[in-house]
Amino acid sequence: MARYLITGAAGFIGSNLARALLQRGDAVRGLDNLSTGRRENLTDLKGMDFRQADLLDRAALRSACEGVDVILHQAAIPSVPKSVQEPEPSHEANINGTFNVLLEARHAGVQRVVYAASSSAYGETPTLPKVESMKPDPISPYAVQKLTGEQYMTSFHRVYGLETVSLRYFNIFGPFQDPGSMYSGVLAKFSMQMLRGETPTIFGDGEQSRDFNYIDNCVQVNLLAASAPASEVAGKVFNVATGHRFSLNQTVDILRKLTGYKGEVRYAPEREGDIKHSLADITLARKHMGYDPAVDFEEGLRRTVAWYKTLMAPARA
Ligand code: UD1
Repeated sequence: MARYLITGAAGFIGSNLARALLQRGDAVRGLDNLSTGRRENLTDLKGMDFRQADLLDRAALRSACEGVDVILHQAAIPSVPKSVQEPEPSHEANINGTFNVLLEARHAGVQRVVYAASSSAYGETPTLPKVESMKPDPISPYAVQKLTGEQYMTSFHRVYGLETVSLRYFNIFGPFQDPGSMYSGVLAKFSMQMLRGETPTIFGDGEQSRDFNYIDNCVQVNLLAASAPASEVAGKVFNVATGHRFSLNQTVDILRKLTGYKGEVRYAPEREGDIKHSLADITLARKHMGYDPAVDFEEGLRRTVAWYKTLMAPARA
């Protein structure tokens, strides 16, 4: 039985990963500084050895890596606009934090590090779908930071033999994603706003599109990346998406049906640092890991809205 360390374990993706690992009986340690992660996400993760600490706290990180086989490194300040407004904290968490994870992984003799990389690395390269072999063209500080982390991963594989796998996430959504911050992912925000009867705001004309991917597909690929033979995955970078894209306008139409929202949609200026379209080629992940995104967009949105509804249900007396 592998022993896992999840960084960002109280976050959206980290807590979903912890739940899946605990359910199949793995030993899980979780680290989170609770800056964007939330304690409520840990409520049902009783079996996890949770530690509240920052990735910049080297002593805490060193202790957390002890006896670990695989690290699923999800901790980050995961927002494009936040990195535009405040590049420094974002740089420290996303680049220095990732560098520390690699240093301590190596020190502890961890076998593999699976890293939450980002499709934002592609930037405005005009070709769709995005293929891993394309030259990256990051726009926002966040995109540069995530790409730098990825390159550090590959470097630590090349020079130290640490098994690293970088997963370029394309807009993951689903239960446990925080809907409540101005930096929240668009589907989390819109689902909750429309359920509450609040007006959602689209930045731009709404024709921008994303390869939105449901969280269960992301969990699946992390588990595959953690266990696939090194010859298939070590030192490599993979797109994690569905291979389909939806515009924000289409998304709002689907959400209207799922939430019953009948109100207006507000249009505001485009967001700085945003990319227009995003769509992945997922051939590589299919080939090397057997990744198969089982939950499609509409089914994912159905499950997501159902989950946000449970948050709105009045507490039982
Ligand atoms: C998202 C992730 C990022 C990940 C990247 C991979 C979040 C918060 N960010 O970035 O971590 O690396 O995907 O592709 O999950 N929008 C609105 N109204 C809103 C909020 C957003 O119109 O209220 C628009 C944005 O301007 C953008 C689109 O929705 O055009 C998606 O935005 P967002 O959900 O923040 O995700 P990305 O920036 O694509």
